Amino acid sequence: MSQHSAGTALPAITLGTGLRPPTDVYRLVGWALDMGYRSFDTAALYGTEAAIGRAIRDSGIDRRELFITVKVRGNEYGSRARVHQAIERSLEALGTSFADMVVPHWPLPMVRALPSTFAQMLDARSEGLVRGVGLSNASSAMVRAVRTETGEWPVVNQLHLSPIVGQTDFTRFAETVPVGIQAYRVLESGSGLMQTRLISELSQQYGCSPAQLLIGWQLGLGHRVVLGASTLEQLRANLDSRPLELAPADSQRLARLDRFSLAKPDPVTHFEL
Ligand SMILES: NC(=O)c1ccc[n+]([C@@H]2O[C@H](COP(=O)([O-])OP(=O)(O)OC[C@H]3O[C@@H](n4cnc5c(N)ncnc54)[C@H](OP(=O)(O)O)[C@@H]3O)[C@@H](O)[C@H]2O)c1
Repeated sequence: MSQHSAGTALPAITLGTGLRPPTDVYRLVGWALDMGYRSFDTAALYGTEAAIGRAIRDSGIDRRELFITVKVRGNEYGSRARVHQAIERSLEALGTSFADMVVPHWPLPMVRALPSTFAQMLDARSEGLVRGVGLSNASSAMVRAVRTETGEWPVVNQLHLSPIVGQTDFTRFAETVPVGIQAYRVLESGSGLMQTRLISELSQQYGCSPAQLLIGWQLGLGHRVVLGASTLEQLRANLDSRPLELAPADSQRLARLDRFSLAKPDPVTHFEL
């Protein structure tokens, strides 16, 4: 378990809004707010900021009760003006004066701008635009480089993490540094993982659904999760997930599904602006 992950206000369960049309996002965020979600993940790339902002305003829920994560695209990395403008554009679309967390969407080591972008985000924090600065899809070496060059650890690293993408290098590293883990693609939806005999057996054994087993395993390891959902039922089931303390033998059975260890695409080579 990441011993330092309790240090931030980032809730255990966040609703993700990637790759969804804004009309769906508006509806899903509205339902999610009604049932108790308080954390939402967006990105300039997703085009979902305005829909989230509208759903929040229509809910009447106080902005201060919420946790909103925004992501800056690679084509805005580097200078103070670009990074600040990117954050301000996201805030304007959301209709809020601050974000709770900002992260550079991909590390893009080939453009060599991660530490400088992170430093500009820290500057945005000192100006009150954001409350915390994290990373996304970063390796342990990238986190170390950011720490060395800026003197600060990212609050959290949002990364692909599931039984089949184990990220053992990063999870071991996170045991030793004050960087929380926020896992995405936890369910490996569309891969057939939730339908496998092992997941079905374990979910019966632990008295939950396959999705709740996969979520509960991550939460039990001390990780936070960011999850997509397409129905009211999925939203509710995901929010109702609880941390699971799996027997060591069961945890090992899950860990043995690790086929890639690292995420695909590989953040070291992935280029996306
Ligand atoms: N930082 C990054 O680079 C990055 C990359 C990817 C994602 N993310 C973030 O992570 C969020 C989650 O994305 P993801 O790819 O990880 O999605 P996910 O949560 O793994 O999958 C979402 C899909 O899983 C299915 N699902 C959800 N709850 C379920 C349940 N209780 N039972 C059965 N099926 C369920 C639904 O698929 P059906 O519609 O088929 O039912 C839903 O559309 C994104 O929205 C985004 O905010 C970040």
